[in-house]
Amino acid sequence: MRLEGRKALVTGGASGIGAAIAARLAAEGAEVWVGDIDTEGAERVAGEVNGHAVELDVTDLESANAAVEAAGTLDILVNNAGTDEFGFFTYTTPEQWQRVLSINLGGVLNCTHAALPAMQQAGYGRIVSISSEAGRVGSKGSAVYSAAKGGIVAFMKAIARENARYGITANSIAPGPIETPLLMGAKEFGEIGEKVIETMKSATQMGRLGQPDEVAAAAAFLASDDATYVTGETLGVSGGLGMV
Ligand SMILES: NC(=O)c1ccc[n+]([C@@H]2O[C@H](COP(=O)([O-])OP(=O)(O)OC[C@H]3O[C@@H](n4cnc5c(N)ncnc54)[C@H](O)[C@@H]3O)[C@@H](O)[C@H]2O)c1
Repeated sequence: MRLEGRKALVTGGASGIGAAIAARLAAEGAEVWVGDIDTEGAERVAGEVNGHAVELDVTDLESANAAVEAAGTLDILVNNAGTDEFGFFTYTTPEQWQRVLSINLGGVLNCTHAALPAMQQAGYGRIVSISSEAGRVGSKGSAVYSAAKGGIVAFMKAIARENARYGITANSIAPGPIETPLLMGAKEFGEIGEKVIETMKSATQMGRLGQPDEVAAAAAFLASDDATYVTGETLGVSGGLGMV
C-alpha cells in the first residue's frame, strides 16, 4: 500500500498499459482518476479499480485543465495516452505527423501544464510519462512517433530540473514491445504485421513481448516514495531492448 492517501490521474487509462497502471496504483492504495477520450472504456476501468472516470482529450489544454480540476490536487500524474501510425517516413503526411505529435508529445505538455501549479503549491508531486524505447533507439516505420517519444524524455528531464525545489519528481518509462491493442493492431497488416511483431520480440534479450503489468510495476515504483531520490531518469521496461 505504498500509495495510500495519494490521488492519481492516469491518461489513456481505458486500455492496455494505462488500464494496468490504473489497476496497480489503485491496488497500492491510490485514489485513481482514469482519463481517456474513450469515455466508455474509462468508466469500465474506473469501475474495475473503484476509481473515477473523467473525459479527457490530451491534445486539448482546456480538456486537460478540466480533467485536473475535476480530480482536485493530484499527487501523481501518469502521462500514458499515446498512439502510432505505422509507415515509412517518406510515405507519411504532415497531417499524420501532427496527429502523432499532438497526442504523444503535445498531450504530455498539456497534462503536465495542467497538473503542475497545484503540485508546486502542495510541495509534492510525482510525474511519470510513458515514453518508448523508440524514443531512445528509433523505430523503423515509426519515425515521428520516435521523435515524439524522444521529446518526452527530454521534456521530463527539464521538468525534473525546474521542479525538484517543489518536491516534485519527473521521470519517463521506456517500454519495449508490450502486448496491448496498440501493438497487436499491427496484425491488421497481415503477414507484414506478424513479421514486425516477431522482429520486435527478437530485438529484446528475452525474446518475448512484455505485459502491461510489467510496465505498471515500474510506474508504481516511480510514483511511490520508494523513488524519492529518482528524478529525470528514463527506466527501460523492454527486456533489454534499449540497453546501452
Ligand atoms: N504497446 C507497446 O508496445 C508500447 C511500447 C512503448 C510505449 N508504449 C506507449 O504506452 C502508452 C499506452 O499504449 P498502449 O499500448 O497501452 O495503447 P492502447 O491503444 O491500448 O491505449 C492507449 C489509450 O490512449 C487513449 N487515447 C488516445 N488518444 C487520446 C487522447 N487524445 N486523449 C486521451 N486519451 C487518448 C486511447 O483511447 C487508449 O485508451 C502509449 O503512450 C504508447 O505510446 C506502448
